[in-house]
Amino acid sequence: MKNKLTLLVVAVAVALQNFSCKNGKTDTGMAKEETISTPFSEEQAYRPYYHFTPKVGWMNDPNGMFYYNGYYHLFYQHYPKDNIWGPMHWGHAISTDLVQWKHLPIALYPDDLGYIFSGSAVVDYDNTSGFGKDGKIPIVAMYTYHDPKKGDAGQLDAQTQAIAYSLDEGNSWTKYEENPVIENPGVRDFRDPKVLWDNEREQWVMILAADFEMMIYTSKNLKDWTLTDRFGKEDGSHEGVWECPDLFPMQVEGSDDVKWVMLASISGGAPNGGNGTQYFIGDFDGKEFTMDKNFAEALAKKHDFWVDFGKDNYAGVTWSNIPAEDGRKIFIGWIVDGHYANKVPTAAWRSSQSLPRTIKLISDNGVPRITFQPVKEITNYVGKKYKKDQLSVGAGQETVLSDADFDFTKAQIIYSVTSLKNKGYTFKLSNDKGEALLFGYDNGKDQFFVDRRKSGKVDFHEEFAEKVSVGPRLSHKEQHNVNVLLDKTSIEIFFDDGETPMTEIFFPTTPYSKLSVLSDNGDLVLDHIEIRQLKFN
Ligand code: FRU
Repeated sequence: MKNKLTLLVVAVAVALQNFSCKNGKTDTGMAKEETISTPFSEEQAYRPYYHFTPKVGWMNDPNGMFYYNGYYHLFYQHYPKDNIWGPMHWGHAISTDLVQWKHLPIALYPDDLGYIFSGSAVVDYDNTSGFGKDGKIPIVAMYTYHDPKKGDAGQLDAQTQAIAYSLDEGNSWTKYEENPVIENPGVRDFRDPKVLWDNEREQWVMILAADFEMMIYTSKNLKDWTLTDRFGKEDGSHEGVWECPDLFPMQVEGSDDVKWVMLASISGGAPNGGNGTQYFIGDFDGKEFTMDKNFAEALAKKHDFWVDFGKDNYAGVTWSNIPAEDGRKIFIGWIVDGHYANKVPTAAWRSSQSLPRTIKLISDNGVPRITFQPVKEITNYVGKKYKKDQLSVGAGQETVLSDADFDFTKAQIIYSVTSLKNKGYTFKLSNDKGEALLFGYDNGKDQFFVDRRKSGKVDFHEEFAEKVSVGPRLSHKEQHNVNVLLDKTSIEIFFDDGETPMTEIFFPTTPYSKLSVLSDNGDLVLDHIEIRQLKFN
């Protein structure tokens, strides 16, 4: 009876979905948000517990994140009427702790100027824009308009930059009547403005992706913008167009030095193929960005300055207006690769965002690099723990760490090894269908890996599981500390205190129920291992 009911629910859901896709008003205007029904089994099996997903429909890049008055705001590229990319809106959600999110109504709808592509938002405390009224502080969003008619006709000037403001803390938005504020100079891919307040020069700075480089602009009022620099034509990878930039100052850990970090998502040529986000570190004088000398030398030798080495982390940028007392730089990325994003095996919604991460800037023998860690708020959700010190794992043998006791669809694994010399290891998450997700360290190649080739449903796209993904060991520290976050369909691994992060998604046909570890060549001693159940409903 239960099975029949489930089948019926699925059939109705699919029918409804087809109906809404075919009959929904296509794009522009204030079309009512339509519902793509959610098959119960899919909801149970694949809706993540704590990684943000849209309620229904398609999602890609995170957009416009700012903090204000107790709330972290997250907007996102969204097509509510179908589960594939379409006319872009800005979806909206808020959170008080960066872990659990509340859905809010769509913030920006496409209009006559085009679809609402990626962008950012800032709190304009001094009302430099003049949008403030009756003492209300304006929040100003800057985004790209993509005119589909011009785009489809192959015109170069389809993309322009525009602004909108909110006088009620981000709940509702008014588009500026004189949009666009930056016309297209004849550059096909001209998009994703990320704005920041430059305290030293008391000006707004905006970085924009333009074909295969970045453009930097400044402004006093968020409406009139002056181009001051172009960066990157000769630097980094150019195997795809550049997208979704970010630019921000950070203090180097353990010193008073401040360096500027630039993020650049690239639609191709990532370490394991597909899309990826590279970064550059240097100085910014209020107009121009110049790469740090040591960084530039290291970059010229090998391109390993990537935000994440897994297949699934793209278009990530940081929150604005995090209070000084907090002081964190908080990042979030879209965790799927664009090549298969519209094929992942969920019907009602498509894809999720990473858990927000904090960035640190370290000096590695004089070369600046960034590291990532999950936000500390996740520890508020830790339930029971399994802990062990000095756990020996014999050569070649599989040591089962935990089975029925833990629910690995919501868990954290923390472990450390004193030295990785000759210590290759493999962690294995598996279920009774013979599906497994592997990750670990290959000491012969001195690299980390994630192997999802037999992780469950993998054949929806040829690039999803064609190879094992690898990431270099970058750390020069002897001690090896790892933090792993598991949700129903994703793993985020922060190898070496986040010096090599790897993020991948997976779709087992039944949840993984067993965790084991293998020592690949010689006895492995895990100094400390902790498996933590996360508490989510
Ligand atoms: C990156 C991107 C952005 C663009 C948006 C459109 O994934 O291509 O450059 O603004 O998606 O949805």
